Amino acid sequence: MNICFIIDPWEEINPEEDSTIRLIHESLVRNHTVGILYPYSLTIRDSNTYGFVRLIKKQEKYSTNYTTFHKKVILNKQLLPISGFDAIFIRTNPPLDQIMLNFLDSIKDQTFIVNDIDGLRRANNKLYPASFEDPKNEIIPVTHVSKSKNYLKEVIKNSVKDKMILKPLDGFGGSGVIVLERDATQNINSLLDFYISGKRDGNYVIVQEFIEGAEEGDTRVLMLNGEPIGAYRRIPAQDDIRSNIKAGGSAQKHVLSKQEKLICKKIGPKLVADGLYFVGLDIIKGKLIEINVVSPGGITRINKFNRTKIQSKVIDFVEHVISHKEKAYHRKQSHKKLIENA
Ligand SMILES: Nc1ncnc2c1ncn2[C@@H]1O[C@H](COP(=O)(O)OP(=O)(O)O)[C@@H](O)[C@H]1O
Ligand SMILES: [Mg+2]
Repeated sequence: MNICFIIDPWEEINPEEDSTIRLIHESLVRNHTVGILYPYSLTIRDSNTYGFVRLIKKQEKYSTNYTTFHKKVILNKQLLPISGFDAIFIRTNPPLDQIMLNFLDSIKDQTFIVNDIDGLRRANNKLYPASFEDPKNEIIPVTHVSKSKNYLKEVIKNSVKDKMILKPLDGFGGSGVIVLERDATQNINSLLDFYISGKRDGNYVIVQEFIEGAEEGDTRVLMLNGEPIGAYRRIPAQDDIRSNIKAGGSAQKHVLSKQEKLICKKIGPKLVADGLYFVGLDIIKGKLIEINVVSPGGITRINKFNRTKIQSKVIDFVEHVISHKEKAYHRKQSHKKLIENA
């Protein structure tokens, strides 16, 4: 199989922690041809999408020490048609490059993309879980999204609880997530001005129910093809509410609770229907707060805590999809021949 990984620069990867390097390593060990592509190196040539792909030179053996593997890899840059890849993993850090998605639109019917381009467009910010049907807020916290300051002020004023979370709609890594006190009226105008101001007609911001117990941490669940394949817990630093590792959180082993399993079961089929095959859920106290669809991380930590190799499940899945597609294609060709020769 030919597998392409769209990533940020190879040199910037931290091989000790990075999930993508584990997926790349697993693909190479299975003797697949692996190319690395940077979004900025996409191009159109003769109406086809090409890219300056860095093919990884195949070797008899690859070091199982990821730092050595990362250092020793030999990359060979060539201009290649992207539809020649059977599968593409989009593994860049958010925010998602919209022009890259436009390039990939032209090949999305010929190549299996994890995650699906249209699914990524739909789910690439926090509106996606906020708009799930859950009338009693059993799994989704009460969430308001707006760029109207007056409306959000009303929401805050009328809140039953005295604490809320304020965060940008398209933030990541915990950036801009703050606890808002309903009665801190002297701050609210300024905060809302600050969060909303920016683009020409302002940014959307989220005011969300504060989930009690968040200081005990959140659960990151990796979902593959609608099923949980691993999880770990992230505990915020003592002086913070954000569990993100980037924001100083620390990692712990975790076994999914009944409620967490129920969330996975409830939303799994929708994720698959939207082409969101490999995602990371963030769950606090049985409530789903985020679905990370662009390059979810956690493989390394889950592997360490559970002595698993999550990456092999992911590559198994992609191999399965491609082999299914190929069999269908060959069956069709042979059936066509049968009719032509009848
Ligand atoms: N409604 C909430 N109640 C309590 N804590 C929250 C809430 N929303 C976010 N947090 C905390 O902030 C962290 C980051 O929030 P999240 O919505 O996942 O945004 P990001 O995309 O920045 O990770 C969460 O992991 C959690 O620790
Ligand atoms: Mg998060």
